[in-house]
Amino acid sequence: MTTTRLAVRILDKRALTASVFSFTLGAIDEAGADVALPAFDVGAHITVATPGGASRSYSLNNDPADRFRYVIAVRRAPDGRGGSASLVDDTAVGDTLFISEPRNTFPLHAASRYLLIAAGIGITPIRAMLRSILAVGISDVHLVYLTRSVEETAFYDELTDPALAEFVTVYHRAEHNGVPFDFWPLVADPGESAADRRIFCCGPEALQDEIRALTMHWRPSAVHFEDFNGVSAFGELTSPFTAVWHPSGQRIAVSTQETLLDALRRENIEVPSSCESGTCGTCRIRLIAGAALHRDVVLDADEREHYLMPCVSRADAASVDAGTADARSTGERAGDAPTGEAAGHASGAEAAGDASGAEAAGDASAAGANELIVGPLDAQER
Ligand code: FES
Repeated sequence: MTTTRLAVRILDKRALTASVFSFTLGAIDEAGADVALPAFDVGAHITVATPGGASRSYSLNNDPADRFRYVIAVRRAPDGRGGSASLVDDTAVGDTLFISEPRNTFPLHAASRYLLIAAGIGITPIRAMLRSILAVGISDVHLVYLTRSVEETAFYDELTDPALAEFVTVYHRAEHNGVPFDFWPLVADPGESAADRRIFCCGPEALQDEIRALTMHWRPSAVHFEDFNGVSAFGELTSPFTAVWHPSGQRIAVSTQETLLDALRRENIEVPSSCESGTCGTCRIRLIAGAALHRDVVLDADEREHYLMPCVSRADAASVDAGTADARSTGERAGDAPTGEAAGHASGAEAAGDASGAEAAGDASAAGANELIVGPLDAQER
């Protein structure tokens, strides 16, 4: 299940390498005329419902000024979960695909100087960023692009063209006797502020871990990561808990063997999803009350006060063990509830204990121990 609101046609599909395919998507009306697509910014992604039924998120890598096309690059992962293979193998030019509107969890923030780092298919948002940065006249930008070989390098000709070559280092480890690229000379200088120098990095977890370790002396706000590889929904602190679905007050037990997203679906509550690994932002729901253990890599600290990614996040076992509900469960959250009726009238104990559906629906201000009160986004938040 995913947020698939837009029907688009595959206007072009071509191989960039043996395993990476570019798709150009557009909407066409009955008269055959192009229809404008929702606008997007550099760094945005869309979620695509694949013919096989899975949903996958892909960065848009064309110029945001083009209001009639979305261009994505899909790496066919033979050992993946089938989504990318279905998209590559089971589609042809002219086919219709259903996609979400663009969402941006990796926006390009302003700076005077940039270091861009990509590995593999992580080049897709980074390539768009490079072009956008150069387009506004900033020339102090360096892209480091790690790939296995020339043959496996998407956009190789473009990025090594003399027009861009001075800004780009393409590094094939195999050609350097297996010696990894040395990022230290490029990250030693953190700049005077985030507005002075920023890093944007998209690639596998190992690369991101390396860059995080090398940039401990940077301001966290100046180092940005995009990760579609995902995080685990389960961990040492996983415990069973109860979710209260605010609109109905339905109480849903979530076992240690399932995610909150799974449990909601079991009860026929539809929540859109894509990566199901805490990285794309598609499954976001409202956190109305209760202490949550956030495991996603999408929400920032402020957003975590109000939202939750149910594909990986759940009730905070540490808080449950301590028998506490956090400050948000004591009443200050009433104003955040999605409906006016949610300004609660009952105590936390009442909400945790005997709440029938109607009672719980009207009491979004408090969660009992071992309980999260959650609900859907409203129309403006989607
Ligand atoms: S489905 Fe992607 S963050 Fe939950």
